[in-house]
Amino acid sequence: KNIVVLISGSGSNLQALINAEAKGQLGGRIALVVSNKKAAYGLVRAAEANIPTLVRTLKEYKDDGKTREDYDRDLAAHIEATQAPDLIVLAGWMHILSPAFIDQFRDKIINLHPALPGELDGAHAIDRAYEEFKAGIRTRTGIMVHHVIPEVDKGDPILTMEIPCVAGDTLETLEERIHTAEHQILPKAVRLVLQHGDNIL
Ligand code: GRF
Repeated sequence: KNIVVLISGSGSNLQALINAEAKGQLGGRIALVVSNKKAAYGLVRAAEANIPTLVRTLKEYKDDGKTREDYDRDLAAHIEATQAPDLIVLAGWMHILSPAFIDQFRDKIINLHPALPGELDGAHAIDRAYEEFKAGIRTRTGIMVHHVIPEVDKGDPILTMEIPCVAGDTLETLEERIHTAEHQILPKAVRLVLQHGDNIL
């Protein structure tokens, strides 16, 4: 089963997928890593694992007078032509995908988001959870892997996990607890989706 992973940053979740694949626990193989940022450290992780990478930035499209839709359409065409993926995993991918892109890979895109379903949609979810914890209006947060639909972070959840906020937590200690949990949940979600095919998609 062919997996394409989209990243924008350090790629610690990509690393968790690479590690799971190496142990035969992923249920498929990571055939391509795409980053929309040139400096994403996840590209180094992919290269070290001998996984082909593709860097495409929105900036180069804009500099060429092209649009977000052009970016998404070209990326979808490239992925389809070279991979025909069974699954696209958004692992710290910080670019809202167009409905056309999502439609082209209907039900084959999943996303990791550091919040529980219906809470803290969008960017900086961990920072916002931490602020609410400090304000005394939140005692726990969580993470989820969900199906991707056009509404950001709104697709049906596949796996979720509650994460406690602990007295004395700093943003860093909360982030650490969240990322550790993410590294466990994402490979499990990928395996689940690849093993169970349509009846979970
Ligand atoms: C993760 O917290 C993910 O949930 C969020 O961005 C972060 C990516 O981290 N979307 P990494 O690039 O996988 O280390």
